Amino acid sequence: MATKTYRPHRIRLWSRRSIPHFQQIVFIGGAACLILSSCGGGSPSALDPHGPGAGKIATLWWILFIVAAAVFVIVIGALLYALFHRRTTDAMRPVNANALVLTLGVVVPAIILMVVLIFTINTEFAVSAPPTPANLTVEVVGHQWWWEVRYPDQQVTTANEIHIPVGQSVQVKLTSDTVIHSFWVPQLQAKTDAFPGRTTTTWLKADQSGDYLGNCAEFCGAEHAHMAFHVIAQSPDQFDTWMKGQQQTPPQPVPTDLQKGYQVFIGSSCSYCHAIRGTNASANVGPDLTHLASRETLAAGTLPNTRGNLAGWITSAQNIKPDNKMPSIYINGDDLQALLNYLESLT
Ligand code: CUA
Repeated sequence: MATKTYRPHRIRLWSRRSIPHFQQIVFIGGAACLILSSCGGGSPSALDPHGPGAGKIATLWWILFIVAAAVFVIVIGALLYALFHRRTTDAMRPVNANALVLTLGVVVPAIILMVVLIFTINTEFAVSAPPTPANLTVEVVGHQWWWEVRYPDQQVTTANEIHIPVGQSVQVKLTSDTVIHSFWVPQLQAKTDAFPGRTTTTWLKADQSGDYLGNCAEFCGAEHAHMAFHVIAQSPDQFDTWMKGQQQTPPQPVPTDLQKGYQVFIGSSCSYCHAIRGTNASANVGPDLTHLASRETLAAGTLPNTRGNLAGWITSAQNIKPDNKMPSIYINGDDLQALLNYLESLT
């Protein structure tokens, strides 16, 4: 009787037929890398920190990345070794195989996870409190879809733009009027949620002066993607100058064209929603416009603040940012030009 000899089944990672498939994977992987690498263009990266808060987060990110990459390389290396150096006899069985599995499968992962957990908790504590006491407080209210910015001690209200003195910690108190938003300045600090009816606190500190883009990081409705803001870190002198400017009440519009623009503003639906200090307009549905012309953007980072964009925003707000609370205003050309002249005088 012929005896059957046992031949271990050979594992083949690829066959000739599967080679095009392998090339497809390489092609798709390469394309994905290119697309992902192009995503960084123009947007602020949390891995390019400009303050101690984001700095600690970036350090943690690199630690996690290096640990995860090392684990990946070791596991895949061990897998490939096992595939190509297959044990065919019991004599090749490692001594204490069970102990090996227990060590590499339980003890080593537990140690790695503990180390990662300690780094994470440490970073969370470090990021939760400012490195130096904060002397300046900013209150930020999330609206659909813009940010109200108040300096309560200085009695200043603005929108979508937070000025801070460079090198100083600033306390930020967050809340929301309707839905949950999340306040995120990737280059300066971690995300902090803003809830209706509750105040959450975070802080900002910039090591270098600059203009740091912030975004809402919690889906909050149709225009969530158009809910940006700028944190402008300035030298203490420049910050004081800016603050003094914001504290000024705009002068009464004297030239005839400014007076006409003011009348258009007060006599139209603008004043039902906006406030301008020193005038009868004191509503707070939309942003305070007292120093509108001093701001960089319109509609929460949607448009650069230019005369043309302002005209477009007034007349076509619903086309530019559908569903936002600002209606598209019908206004004749003369009135629009007068209104623009007046709004541009609010420096
Ligand atoms: Cu506010 Cu998303």
